[in-house]
Amino acid sequence: MKTMFITLAASLLMTASVNAQPKLTLQVDKAQRTVSPTFYGLMTEEINFSYEGGLYSQLLRDIAMQEMTGGQQGRRQQGGGARPSGSAPKPRYWLLSDSTAGTLRFNTTGGISFIQKRSLSIELTKAVSLENPGFWGIAVRPSTTYSGDAYFKGNGRITVGLRSTDGNTVFASQDLTLSSNDWRQYTFSLQTAADVKETKDAVFFIQFQNAGNYALAYPTLFPKAKKTYTVKSDWYRTDIMDLLREMRPTFLRFPGGNYLEGNTFKERFDWKRTIGPLATRPGHRSPWGYWSTDGMGLLEFLCWAEECGAEPILGVFAGYVLNGDYVEGDALEPFIKDALDEIEYTIGGPDTRWGARRVRDGHPEPFHLTYVEIGNEDFFDRSGSYSHRFMQFYDAIKAKYPQLQIISTQDERALRGNAENPAAVKVDVIDEHYYRNAEAMYRAAQQYDSYDRKGPKIFCGEWATREGSPTTNMNAALGDAAWMTCMERNSDIVVAHCYAPLFVNVNQGGMQWESDLIGYDALTSFGSPSYHAQCMFAQNLGDKVVPMLADGVPTVAMGRGEPVPQLYYNTTVDSRTGQLYLKVVNIGATAQQVTITVQGAKPKGKAEVITLKSARPEDTNSIDNPNNIIPQKSSMKVSGNFRLPLSPYSITVVKMWK
Ligand code: AHR
Repeated sequence: MKTMFITLAASLLMTASVNAQPKLTLQVDKAQRTVSPTFYGLMTEEINFSYEGGLYSQLLRDIAMQEMTGGQQGRRQQGGGARPSGSAPKPRYWLLSDSTAGTLRFNTTGGISFIQKRSLSIELTKAVSLENPGFWGIAVRPSTTYSGDAYFKGNGRITVGLRSTDGNTVFASQDLTLSSNDWRQYTFSLQTAADVKETKDAVFFIQFQNAGNYALAYPTLFPKAKKTYTVKSDWYRTDIMDLLREMRPTFLRFPGGNYLEGNTFKERFDWKRTIGPLATRPGHRSPWGYWSTDGMGLLEFLCWAEECGAEPILGVFAGYVLNGDYVEGDALEPFIKDALDEIEYTIGGPDTRWGARRVRDGHPEPFHLTYVEIGNEDFFDRSGSYSHRFMQFYDAIKAKYPQLQIISTQDERALRGNAENPAAVKVDVIDEHYYRNAEAMYRAAQQYDSYDRKGPKIFCGEWATREGSPTTNMNAALGDAAWMTCMERNSDIVVAHCYAPLFVNVNQGGMQWESDLIGYDALTSFGSPSYHAQCMFAQNLGDKVVPMLADGVPTVAMGRGEPVPQLYYNTTVDSRTGQLYLKVVNIGATAQQVTITVQGAKPKGKAEVITLKSARPEDTNSIDNPNNIIPQKSSMKVSGNFRLPLSPYSITVVKMWK
């Protein structure tokens, strides 16, 4: 397929001309290509503290009692000074306010169940507080209810609550009496007053009123959501979910990414261990180096999609893990069964085994599912086993669910090349991944124009312009927007696409992969310029692609290669309302006046103009300056022929009516 690209030099010859007035012609009467109804979407996995310390609103860190420290990174680093190094390993996120008051140790046996075997043993010589710093602090807001629960062993009075790191301000608390030498579950509710000042630096505390021996297992703390969309709304951080809704996603690709595969078979995303009550989920280590409680399990992913009006693109584990191990043939059958069960959980009726389980888990309605993806990035599997594994899954899924479209993670050539019977290989959709710098995005901005229309459809399941860290800058947004014009123009074959990674916790230690779309700390979140570019594109989309002619587009020198065009563009039209959405990206340092000619329609009245721009490409947004680069709205008079001014380093959407 890739051999069919027109060479870049050829495409530049068609568009470049020095010092001419750029002209763009919109051939509205020739709009034929249909924009895929699942075009803009989201991709997610547990990376960069996406859920733990991110979208998943559970506030306490290390509830599974897994994380040890040699003494370097205890509470003091999260909210004060450091403990001396070289001391014996200790629980990392569970700390005594006075370390001389007793000892803390993880027990690895005798937990609350055979699934949650671990607990915290607390031996106290005097009254003291146990503290948890959350994920780089706990956010406290006024007039908010925090619902918690925890398993304790021991007897005596305790107070649980939220307070400032210096312990001087208690934001909310509740007294409890512990009264059992065996595990017993206690629930509590912490209510902040209306005059509490918002902070991201609170800690959770358990004040033990007496010396004694206690144990703690699987505590959780959730703020109550202010808005409820689905049965799971309390599960998601409201501010981050609001940002996602703005992106108007039509799908959510989950659970990965590498998170689907895991480093080993034991660490794959094993969906059956991610449903049901939280404490029945064993959790597992993410390939990105930290513990996942699986509080964001299959149902929470599905409801997340529903929460933003999207459908799932379900990635099913395909028998290959990141250390290179794989299974095929008969050994793959249990994994195929797992995938079929997972689909049944997603779309099955109450009369099916797993559909009934979903109903019991609180979601009676089946979800809408179009695409299932087999594995993730199996082009890394050097054994060549993917073609066999893929076909085993493909045949089994199609036999039971012929309506589903199956996504392959290897291209057709590789699949057929490794197959015993190449003619038997069937591919509906191919998932392509592109992580590039801005220059590479510009150079690739004609990539899909020459893809074979008779071949499989394309899902660009991970892409990003990698400029800026932790979140991307304006330079990245320009590369992204150029790339999106290419995908939109070809959205008859590019049926869906999504940026990755979606999230990053911007605190030190939160990021494993830079150039992310949305950043946050415990309290607030913000969109990068790339985020805003995507919102602008997704919010302004028709259902047909309008062919465009270009003339006099200047070029800009870039890197060591040929110059690249300064402008990138695409138009779509809404065939029901007649609205036209023209998008133009100016990647250069010079302003441009573009003559727009509309053929086959007469735009009238005032057009709405939305612009994202910055003085320098390296400008960006951050927690401290979240709105440095955000879309600006204006209007202008348009006709069949008009001049569109473009600022340097800008992305412009013109919404006009024909
Ligand atoms: O997006 C980060 C990683 O990049 C994904 O987990 C993986 O699929 C890709 O290599």
